[in-house]
Amino acid sequence: MSDASQTDKPWAGRFTAPTDAFVEVFTASVGFDKRLYKHDIAGSIAHARMLAHVGVLSEAERDTIVDGLRAIEQDIERGEFAWSTSLEDVHMNIEARLTDRIGDIGKKLHTGRSRNDQVATDIRLYLRDEMQVMQAEVTRLIEGLLGLAEEEAGTIMPGFTHLQTAQPVTFGHHMLAWVEMLLRDLARLRDAYQRVNVLPLGAAALAGTTYPIDRLFTARELGFAGVAENSLDAVSDRDFAIELVSDASVLMMHLSRFSEELILWSSAQFDFVDLGDSFCTGSSIMPQKKNPDVPELVRGKTGRIYGHLMSLLTLMKAQPLAYNKDNQEDKEPLFDTIDNVKGCLKLYADMMPQIQVKRDNMYEAARRGFSTATDLADYLVRKGVAFRDAHEIVGKAVRYGVDNDKDLSEMSLDELQQFSNVIEPDVFEVLTLEGSVAARNHIGGTAPEQVRAAIIRVRTRLEQLTL
Ligand code: ARG
Repeated sequence: MSDASQTDKPWAGRFTAPTDAFVEVFTASVGFDKRLYKHDIAGSIAHARMLAHVGVLSEAERDTIVDGLRAIEQDIERGEFAWSTSLEDVHMNIEARLTDRIGDIGKKLHTGRSRNDQVATDIRLYLRDEMQVMQAEVTRLIEGLLGLAEEEAGTIMPGFTHLQTAQPVTFGHHMLAWVEMLLRDLARLRDAYQRVNVLPLGAAALAGTTYPIDRLFTARELGFAGVAENSLDAVSDRDFAIELVSDASVLMMHLSRFSEELILWSSAQFDFVDLGDSFCTGSSIMPQKKNPDVPELVRGKTGRIYGHLMSLLTLMKAQPLAYNKDNQEDKEPLFDTIDNVKGCLKLYADMMPQIQVKRDNMYEAARRGFSTATDLADYLVRKGVAFRDAHEIVGKAVRYGVDNDKDLSEMSLDELQQFSNVIEPDVFEVLTLEGSVAARNHIGGTAPEQVRAAIIRVRTRLEQLTL
């Protein structure tokens, strides 16, 4: 980063003393907002075209400015752009460079515009791109989960409540639970996008501008669906960013819960899945270890995303209208959120096809935990026993099973009949794991048949969300 002299500052006119050296460093944002260069240049090109369209710039001036901006973009991409802290931010760096390149015509670009509406526009353009990437990655993750659900539609595992074996479920059904959460995350991102996709430019510093600008022209140039209706609101609120980070927090909460399951399932104690060597790491001291670092880090990163949400909400809460420099603090939490959420989504989407499901272990675990106890109670109810009495009877049978180390399905008819005389040989059909899952055969139930039908419906819903 180089230093320009004090007189290079575009706002230096009313100042007599130079900026304190540390104030300059303290107030500069170029170190992090230079990542907005592409969007800043796109916004400036659209603005210059609009100014020419309404006659504020000549066509020749417009062309000179647009060519200059394009050349600067190439310089930046080639790493040949010297960013200056003294020029504060990405906006002033690019504008100053434009004037260096094309001379005084460059000074006309900022006509009818302020950095306040400029930065609000840049962030929205940037977020539009990033939100599209995020949506594509959520979609890819959902597709990975659907692949697993399809392959494992009939695979039986223990379903848990309180992390205690509750009732058998199919692994496909379990994967579809994650799919439902992610479909809502995707819908939230799509919805938030509509509020991001609005043009602030034209609000200028806060009150609008005296030039005969055509904001709808600029909006069309930049592909915005509409223009911000109020200039004070347009330059000052960052609710759209807060909304995205809020949606990202919910998404990360889901990924974190999913992580927790993958960590448990890949442990020697559960041994339900293998995450694939390329998604795990070893220990420098314990040679036997294969650690689920990716899910652990995803679970860990969830905390910082919640932190960013709190930062942005707090950043906004006490600001009077309109723009305040506080808003410069919106960028780092926002950028960090996007980088990390994209990273987590990418890893999860890549990891899904690598997951090996250990069907036998899951089946064994489901068999061991009296997971068909509710099925036995329901059987007794069908034979005329009241549910509360049935619950009591099965509780006693389970107690007997624990004492004698026998699952319900392993007991003889005589053994079962000690607890109720309505039990008949047909009881064994409901005590099997297969019978138990197949019986939950309604929309939203765990039966393999329902899982297969649900996958087909999800594919249609997903198409609608990605149109
Ligand atoms: N770097 C500033 C930001 O990120 C740009 C807008 C500055 N506007 C101003 N009046 N100082 O918010």
